[in-house]
Amino acid sequence: MTAARITVNGTETPIAPAAPHATVLDFLRGRGLTGTKEGCAEGECGACSVLVARPGVDKPTDWVAVNSCLVPVAALDGQEVITSEGLATVDRPGTPPSLHPVQEEMAVRGGSQCGYCTPGFVCSMAAEYYRPGRRAHTDPTDSTGSTDAEHGPNGFDLHALSGNLCRCTGYRPIRDAAFAVGMPTDEDPLAQRREQSPPAPVATEYTRDDSTFLRKNTLAETLELLRERPDAVVVAGSTDWGVEVNIRSRRASCVLAVDRLPELRRLRVESDSIEIGAALTLTEIERRLDGSVPLLAELFPQFASRLIRNGATLGGNLGTGSPIGDAPPVLLALEASVVLADADGEREVPLAEYFTGYRQSVRRPGELIRAVRFPLPLSRVTAFHKIAKRRFDDISSVAVALALDIEDGIVRKARIGLGGVAATPIRALATEAVLEGEPWSAQTVENAARVLRGEGTPMDDHRASALYRSAMLGQSLRKLHARTTEAVSS
Ligand code: FES
Ligand code: FES
Repeated sequence: MTAARITVNGTETPIAPAAPHATVLDFLRGRGLTGTKEGCAEGECGACSVLVARPGVDKPTDWVAVNSCLVPVAALDGQEVITSEGLATVDRPGTPPSLHPVQEEMAVRGGSQCGYCTPGFVCSMAAEYYRPGRRAHTDPTDSTGSTDAEHGPNGFDLHALSGNLCRCTGYRPIRDAAFAVGMPTDEDPLAQRREQSPPAPVATEYTRDDSTFLRKNTLAETLELLRERPDAVVVAGSTDWGVEVNIRSRRASCVLAVDRLPELRRLRVESDSIEIGAALTLTEIERRLDGSVPLLAELFPQFASRLIRNGATLGGNLGTGSPIGDAPPVLLALEASVVLADADGEREVPLAEYFTGYRQSVRRPGELIRAVRFPLPLSRVTAFHKIAKRRFDDISSVAVALALDIEDGIVRKARIGLGGVAATPIRALATEAVLEGEPWSAQTVENAARVLRGEGTPMDDHRASALYRSAMLGQSLRKLHARTTEAVSS
């Protein structure tokens, strides 16, 4: 095993003497790359955004923007990172530093005032600039050429910036800059870099003082290690653990990365089921499924921000056991199960039986989540309603996922997953029973909405009152009925 190293803006650098818990942000700033800023240290402002070369969806490599404040630098052993300083220089090698096209647009369109947020914005913007699926809409009559408020004529998806905050410029000039960038030229080295494979993950054992960051090459080695060290903190995108480290000063003697294990990164669509590897990022799942699972397609844009979705995984969202994770209600409505693996083998547990208490589950020491599986065919009438104070990048007060099979106007099957109304995500079993076998009518919906309001044990807290949470449950069913009645009866 070689000494841990990371390639930053084309230059390979040893990670030592950084501590195993040190973040990419601290590492970069410690080496003078102070364009990368710390705003919040918990993944909510994007001032720390940098680009990482990752396995691509449409090309061998994607330039993916991540929150460098959350990722341990040891997790990027052997990997390539580009910062805002690198963007300015790598575009034109051999010439004096000059602005990258996204930096140029930010400058000329007034997208920066104090400048604190700007390097983070340009990195998120550059990731979208290089997204292979981005297409300019040249024909204004093309109905697929979406140029709504969130998509520019250049195909720029503003959701790419949903994790970046600006407190002084205002967002309109930033949007102007995003919608003005062109397409990368053929000579652009970062565009060319997408045609080669990303750096392979490397086995890492990085120890300083009493703490170790580990990455194994295979699932078998990882599970063997977990058997010996069941206390190891398992991380994928570190979007949860990074917050614990930064804000709550938590430290672990052993952190074990699983995000690049091939066995955890498969997506299998069979005739009767879909299996999603626990370490695929939400962005990868979103792009690979491409809308084929409508409930997930509704979930992803509402799940945190693009920056978080570029690191977060389903395994992590279930592994933390949070009662307000956004994925569990959807997965409960999809009747998902969790595939748990340890050194002795695998077992499959219905998600409805997975959570046992506040942040507790049936997952045993030494086990990790390998995949999430749900059956096909999917229910045809579905909705995911996230009730939160902000549309993007917020924590839900209540989340409701509904999946109904309606035939000849009768509800044949109802599956409803709820978050934020109990110590764990739950199925609304009593409401499902009221719906099943009944006509999908306003009367049935009123009867079921009354029962749904009583599901769980909602609490008063700073996000919402118990009464409000309960009322939102009932409204959620009425909203689905209003949206679907015409489609079902026609
Ligand atoms: Fe705010 Fe990283 S510093 S997201
Ligand atoms: Fe000041 Fe964005 S330019 S915070």
